[in-house]
Amino acid sequence: MVLHGQRARLAGLGVLLLVSAVLAFAVLPRRAHAQPSTVIGGPFTLTAAGGQRMTDQNFRGRWLLVYFGYTSCPDVCPTTLAEISQALDRLGSLSAQVQPLFITIDPQRDTAEVIDAYVKAFDARIIGLTGTHEEIAHVAKEYLVYYTKKAFADGSSEAYLMDHTAFVYLVGPDGNYVTLFAPIQGQRPDDIASLLRKYITDSSSR
Ligand code: NI
Repeated sequence: MVLHGQRARLAGLGVLLLVSAVLAFAVLPRRAHAQPSTVIGGPFTLTAAGGQRMTDQNFRGRWLLVYFGYTSCPDVCPTTLAEISQALDRLGSLSAQVQPLFITIDPQRDTAEVIDAYVKAFDARIIGLTGTHEEIAHVAKEYLVYYTKKAFADGSSEAYLMDHTAFVYLVGPDGNYVTLFAPIQGQRPDDIASLLRKYITDSSSR
Protein backbone atom coordinates (compact mmCIF):
# COMPACT_ATOMS: atom_id res chain seq x y z
CA MET A 1 0.00 0.00 0.00
CA VAL A 2 1.28 3.41 -0.87
CA LEU A 3 0.63 6.23 1.54
CA HIS A 4 0.37 9.79 0.31
CA GLY A 5 0.88 13.25 1.70
CA GLN A 6 -0.58 13.86 5.10
CA ARG A 7 -1.29 10.18 5.82
CA ALA A 8 2.27 9.20 5.00
CA ARG A 9 3.54 12.06 7.13
CA LEU A 10 1.36 11.08 10.07
CA ALA A 11 2.32 7.43 9.69
CA GLY A 12 5.99 8.39 9.65
CA LEU A 13 5.45 10.62 12.63
CA GLY A 14 3.80 7.79 14.51
CA VAL A 15 6.81 5.58 13.88
CA LEU A 16 9.17 8.31 15.03
CA LEU A 17 7.17 8.96 18.19
CA LEU A 18 7.16 5.24 18.91
CA VAL A 19 10.91 5.06 18.38
CA SER A 20 11.32 8.08 20.67
CA ALA A 21 9.30 6.42 23.38
CA VAL A 22 11.32 3.22 23.11
CA LEU A 23 14.58 5.17 23.16
CA ALA A 24 13.42 7.18 26.14
CA PHE A 25 12.44 4.01 27.97
CA ALA A 26 15.81 2.44 27.20
CA VAL A 27 17.94 5.47 27.99
CA LEU A 28 16.16 7.35 30.77
CA PRO A 29 16.65 5.03 33.75
CA ARG A 30 20.42 4.82 33.35
CA ARG A 31 20.95 8.50 32.72
CA ALA A 32 18.48 9.48 35.40
CA HIS A 33 20.54 7.46 37.83
CA ALA A 34 23.77 9.22 36.85
CA GLN A 35 22.32 12.73 36.59
CA PRO A 36 19.03 13.06 38.44
CA SER A 37 18.34 16.66 37.41
CA THR A 38 19.23 16.44 33.72
CA VAL A 39 17.61 13.64 31.80
CA ILE A 40 17.46 15.35 28.40
CA GLY A 41 20.19 17.59 27.01
CA GLY A 42 23.82 18.04 27.93
CA PRO A 43 27.10 19.56 26.85
CA PHE A 44 27.95 19.91 23.17
CA THR A 45 30.55 21.45 20.90
CA LEU A 46 29.36 22.24 17.38
CA THR A 47 30.21 24.50 14.45
CA ALA A 48 28.34 27.64 13.38
CA ALA A 49 28.74 29.94 10.38
CA GLY A 50 32.31 30.89 9.52
CA GLY A 51 33.59 27.77 11.23
CA GLN A 52 32.99 29.28 14.67
CA ARG A 53 33.01 26.59 17.35
CA MET A 54 30.18 26.96 19.86
CA THR A 55 29.39 25.04 23.02
CA ASP A 56 26.35 24.90 25.27
CA GLN A 57 28.29 27.22 27.61
CA ASN A 58 28.05 30.03 25.04
CA PHE A 59 24.29 30.17 25.60
CA ARG A 60 24.07 30.32 29.40
CA GLY A 61 21.73 33.07 30.54
CA ARG A 62 19.42 32.65 27.57
CA TRP A 63 16.40 30.44 26.97
CA LEU A 64 17.10 27.99 24.17
CA LEU A 65 14.69 26.51 21.67
CA VAL A 66 16.64 23.51 20.38
CA TYR A 67 15.44 21.79 17.23
CA PHE A 68 17.10 18.98 15.28
CA GLY A 69 16.49 18.63 11.54
CA TYR A 70 18.09 19.07 8.12
CA THR A 71 17.95 21.61 5.33
CA SER A 72 16.71 19.18 2.65
CA CYS A 73 13.65 18.30 4.76
CA PRO A 74 10.53 18.63 2.60
CA ASP A 75 7.99 19.34 5.29
CA VAL A 76 8.37 19.25 9.07
CA CYS A 77 11.62 21.22 9.39
CA PRO A 78 10.62 24.26 7.31
CA THR A 79 7.24 24.33 9.04
CA THR A 80 8.84 24.18 12.47
CA LEU A 81 11.41 26.89 11.74
CA ALA A 82 8.65 29.18 10.45
CA GLU A 83 6.66 28.52 13.63
CA ILE A 84 9.66 29.25 15.85
CA SER A 85 10.13 32.54 14.00
CA GLN A 86 6.46 33.44 14.51
CA ALA A 87 6.71 32.52 18.20
CA LEU A 88 9.62 34.96 18.59
CA ASP A 89 7.57 37.68 16.92
CA ARG A 90 4.70 37.09 19.34
CA LEU A 91 7.08 37.38 22.31
CA GLY A 92 8.00 40.95 21.41
CA SER A 93 10.85 42.30 23.54
CA LEU A 94 11.03 39.06 25.54
CA SER A 95 12.38 37.36 22.42
CA ALA A 96 15.76 38.97 23.17
CA GLN A 97 16.11 36.41 25.98
CA VAL A 98 15.44 33.47 23.62
CA GLN A 99 17.95 31.81 21.30
CA PRO A 100 16.67 29.25 18.79
CA LEU A 101 19.20 26.64 17.66
CA PHE A 102 18.78 24.46 14.57
CA ILE A 103 21.11 21.46 14.82
CA THR A 104 21.47 19.38 11.68
CA ILE A 105 21.18 15.61 11.76
CA ASP A 106 22.52 15.54 8.16
CA PRO A 107 26.09 16.84 8.56
CA GLN A 108 27.09 15.18 5.28
CA ARG A 109 25.20 17.84 3.30
CA ASP A 110 24.59 20.54 5.90
CA THR A 111 27.89 22.37 6.16
CA ALA A 112 28.08 25.41 8.42
CA GLU A 113 27.47 27.71 5.44
CA VAL A 114 24.58 25.67 4.04
CA ILE A 115 22.76 25.52 7.35
CA ASP A 116 23.44 29.18 8.13
CA ALA A 117 21.96 30.34 4.82
CA TYR A 118 18.99 28.05 5.38
CA VAL A 119 18.04 29.25 8.86
CA LYS A 120 18.64 32.91 8.02
CA ALA A 121 16.05 32.58 5.26
CA PHE A 122 13.51 31.87 8.02
CA ASP A 123 14.76 34.21 10.74
CA ALA A 124 18.06 36.00 11.35
CA ARG A 125 17.75 35.16 15.06
CA ILE A 126 18.10 31.41 14.51
CA ILE A 127 21.61 29.92 14.81
CA GLY A 128 22.36 26.88 12.64
CA LEU A 129 24.84 24.34 13.98
CA THR A 130 26.59 21.40 12.37
CA GLY A 131 29.50 19.19 13.32
CA THR A 132 31.29 15.96 12.60
CA HIS A 133 29.21 12.80 12.42
CA GLU A 134 30.48 11.97 15.92
CA GLU A 135 29.57 15.38 17.35
CA ILE A 136 26.08 15.21 15.87
CA ALA A 137 25.58 11.65 17.11
CA HIS A 138 26.69 12.75 20.57
CA VAL A 139 24.32 15.72 20.92
CA ALA A 140 21.46 13.79 19.31
CA LYS A 141 21.89 11.01 21.85
CA GLU A 142 21.82 13.53 24.70
CA TYR A 143 18.50 14.87 23.44
CA LEU A 144 17.15 11.39 22.68
CA VAL A 145 16.87 12.34 19.02
CA TYR A 146 16.46 9.46 16.59
CA TYR A 147 17.60 9.98 12.99
CA THR A 148 18.44 7.75 10.07
CA LYS A 149 18.99 8.03 6.35
CA LYS A 150 16.05 6.72 4.36
CA ALA A 151 16.90 3.87 2.02
CA PHE A 152 15.44 3.97 -1.47
CA ALA A 153 14.41 0.85 -3.34
CA ASP A 154 16.39 1.84 -6.45
CA GLY A 155 19.56 2.28 -4.45
CA SER A 156 19.86 5.99 -5.28
CA SER A 157 21.34 8.15 -2.57
CA GLU A 158 21.85 11.54 -4.20
CA ALA A 159 18.62 13.13 -3.01
CA TYR A 160 18.14 11.07 0.12
CA LEU A 161 15.72 11.98 2.88
CA MET A 162 16.24 11.63 6.60
CA ASP A 163 13.80 10.31 9.16
CA HIS A 164 14.12 12.18 12.42
CA THR A 165 12.29 13.04 15.60
CA ALA A 166 10.96 16.58 15.53
CA PHE A 167 10.55 17.89 19.05
CA VAL A 168 11.40 21.46 19.97
CA TYR A 169 13.23 21.43 23.30
CA LEU A 170 13.12 24.31 25.75
CA VAL A 171 16.36 24.68 27.74
CA GLY A 172 16.61 27.15 30.61
CA PRO A 173 19.22 29.88 31.18
CA ASP A 174 21.07 27.46 33.51
CA GLY A 175 21.48 24.98 30.65
CA ASN A 176 18.97 22.51 32.06
CA TYR A 177 16.18 21.00 30.02
CA VAL A 178 12.73 22.43 30.86
CA THR A 179 10.17 20.88 28.52
CA LEU A 180 9.50 19.97 24.91
CA PHE A 181 6.96 20.84 22.26
CA ALA A 182 5.65 17.86 20.32
CA PRO A 183 5.43 17.95 16.52
CA ILE A 184 2.32 19.08 14.63
CA GLN A 185 -0.05 19.83 17.51
CA GLY A 186 2.23 21.37 20.13
CA GLN A 187 4.51 23.50 18.00
CA ARG A 188 2.05 26.16 17.08
CA PRO A 189 3.58 29.63 17.50
CA ASP A 190 0.97 30.69 20.06
CA ASP A 191 1.67 27.63 22.23
CA ILE A 192 5.43 28.15 22.17
CA ALA A 193 5.12 31.89 22.79
CA SER A 194 2.66 31.64 25.67
CA LEU A 195 4.64 28.97 27.49
CA LEU A 196 7.91 30.85 26.97
CA ARG A 197 6.30 34.05 28.22
CA LYS A 198 5.16 32.22 31.35
CA TYR A 199 8.58 30.71 32.05
CA ILE A 200 10.47 33.95 31.40
CA THR A 201 8.20 36.12 33.52
CA ASP A 202 8.01 33.53 36.34
CA SER A 203 11.79 33.21 36.51
CA SER A 204 12.41 36.97 36.43
CA SER A 205 9.89 37.61 39.24
CA ARG A 206 11.59 35.16 41.58
NI1 NI B 1 12.69 17.49 8.99
